[in-house]
Amino acid sequence: MSIAATRLGPDGIAVPAIGFGTYPLRGDDGVTAIASALEVGYRFLDTAVNYRNEREVAEAIRASGVPREEVFIQTKIPGRDHRSSRRSLEASLTIMGLDYLDSVLIHWPNPSQDAYVTAWEGLIDAREAGLVRTIGVSNFAAHHLDAITEATEVTPAWNQIEIHPLFPQAEQLADNAERGITTQAWSPLGKTSAPFDEPAVADAAATHDVSPAQVILRWHLQRGVIPLPKSTSAERQRSNLDVFGFELSADEVAAITALGRADGRLFDGDPDTHEEM
Ligand SMILES: NC(=O)c1ccc[n+]([C@@H]2O[C@H](COP(=O)([O-])OP(=O)(O)OC[C@H]3O[C@@H](n4cnc5c(N)ncnc54)[C@H](OP(=O)(O)O)[C@@H]3O)[C@@H](O)[C@H]2O)c1
Repeated sequence: MSIAATRLGPDGIAVPAIGFGTYPLRGDDGVTAIASALEVGYRFLDTAVNYRNEREVAEAIRASGVPREEVFIQTKIPGRDHRSSRRSLEASLTIMGLDYLDSVLIHWPNPSQDAYVTAWEGLIDAREAGLVRTIGVSNFAAHHLDAITEATEVTPAWNQIEIHPLFPQAEQLADNAERGITTQAWSPLGKTSAPFDEPAVADAAATHDVSPAQVILRWHLQRGVIPLPKSTSAERQRSNLDVFGFELSADEVAAITALGRADGRLFDGDPDTHEEM
């Protein structure tokens, strides 16, 4: 299976096959790490209002010298802004000194607020006004996706969800695909619980002469997912992007997926109960 470094999203817009996660990179060190990511070749930066680093993301792009239009910039609307999502997006543009974003997501559905449909309507408005090229969601389960598409007839381009080998989310991945939604993975390596020593990962790394992290990122690509790894190290940033020169067998992919556990979430991030303002 040959996989290109750039793919087409559901809106027919080109998007890098791997993005760079920017949480919790802040301050001067944050700018340095994000600029390094751009220098080693990332062209997709994932931020959020709640990461409080949109300014650093914009500064890193300017510092890197990479033209803004070559970078796919994505932010996320926090729960407290669900009833004013277009204004929230406009505030992000002001902080970043930009006149458009490439993608904006609703960060969490926060069902008890009962306002994520309103947030979605605001993002549709913003897209129609040319403030953002694509719109999507994060941490949405099937019934949250039903609610926004039934209310507006607009399907999100993206659903960014927790996916790593201990929590592979086969069902939500298939549900997203059936709806024509491209899945992005947060904590794609498994953050502090990365299963680098598990035989399914370590054996594939030895077979292909790559690192366990490269095996996991390749596993995402072969499942059709856009992973968003974060690293402060230029060397790890570079190797996390260098996953287009080998291919896992179907059995290797299946063995890594089989590491999944019902309790494999990194924290209790169940979108029906976990809320972030
Ligand atoms: N939508 C959401 O609700 C949500 C939630 C969580 C995260 N996110 C997004 O997902 C991004 C990534 O998530 P994450 O940072 O939680 O997890 P992650 O990318 O799975 O893991 C990051 C950790 O792995 C280490 N690491 C990176 N590359 C490595 C390599 N090649 N070998 C060994 N260790 C490596 C990093 O350390 P070093 O930095 O020292 O390399 C860091 O400790 C975030 O930055 C954010 O953009 C979104």
